[in-house]
Amino acid sequence: MKKSILNFHEMKKRGEKITYITAYDFPMASFVEKAGIDMILVGDSAGMVVHGYSGTVPMTMDQMVAHAEDVRRGAPNTFVIGDLPFLSYQLSTENAIYNSGRFYKEASVDAVKLEGGRCLISQIKGIVDSGMSVMGHIGLTPQSSGQLGGFKAQGLTVETAMELLQDAAAVEKAGAFALLVEAVPPEVGKIITETVKIPVLGIGAGMYTDGQVLINGDILGMFEAFTPKFVKRYANVGEIIVKAFTEYAEDIRSGKFPEEKHCYRMLEGEHEKLQARLKKGPIQ
Ligand code: KIV
Repeated sequence: MKKSILNFHEMKKRGEKITYITAYDFPMASFVEKAGIDMILVGDSAGMVVHGYSGTVPMTMDQMVAHAEDVRRGAPNTFVIGDLPFLSYQLSTENAIYNSGRFYKEASVDAVKLEGGRCLISQIKGIVDSGMSVMGHIGLTPQSSGQLGGFKAQGLTVETAMELLQDAAAVEKAGAFALLVEAVPPEVGKIITETVKIPVLGIGAGMYTDGQVLINGDILGMFEAFTPKFVKRYANVGEIIVKAFTEYAEDIRSGKFPEEKHCYRMLEGEHEKLQARLKKGPIQ
């Protein structure tokens, strides 16, 4: 059964961990649902792991909605979150409401996610007041990684940890139902998790958050550009795919594929009739 925001709040209270992963297309979403994972993020990380950009900034609202539609079809009974891409919410509260609404209307998502803390209070309130649900995202925020000096851990000093706590409190107060915290030390992840009442989902934020999220290409070994420290790899699907493609190409070259069992057959007697017809003369 699809979990709701209320279920996630109860899970936090009971200390039951929330499971969360990214997906961008129909087949992967259906595998996530079969595995019984609680939440899917249609992340703008698609920019890197699906489209091959060096960051998430190039992703557009049209691309994100198309990914979310595919994921929704693959996982009709899983809580799906659409990730608002760069410039789809920063311009104004109207901009944020409109693009969140696109995710809801066109892809039937259950919530949206945006990156930032205190600077986004008005946008979060606006989206929530329009009847939609929002997950915040603080710490390492990939859309502004240039400003942060790259894909770097955050909250390493008292001052920056205090800023993160202020951001977390502001996001909660504005009405977000949950918060994603990326790339902070475990002790900072723990304090944030204990400070806010909403569920905190961590990615590289240690073991004390209410749940964990990872990018599917990272855990499956399908993204080779780089692997962050916080990733645990559970399979090497990339290697399996390359092996299968290599064998396929070898089979074609050597004539091992296709075999008899892969072929269609003409109806009984039709082949003989065709040969006789061809003997009668040139094809008209
Ligand atoms: O886009 C994304 O995949 C993210 C990750 C940090 C989970 O936001």
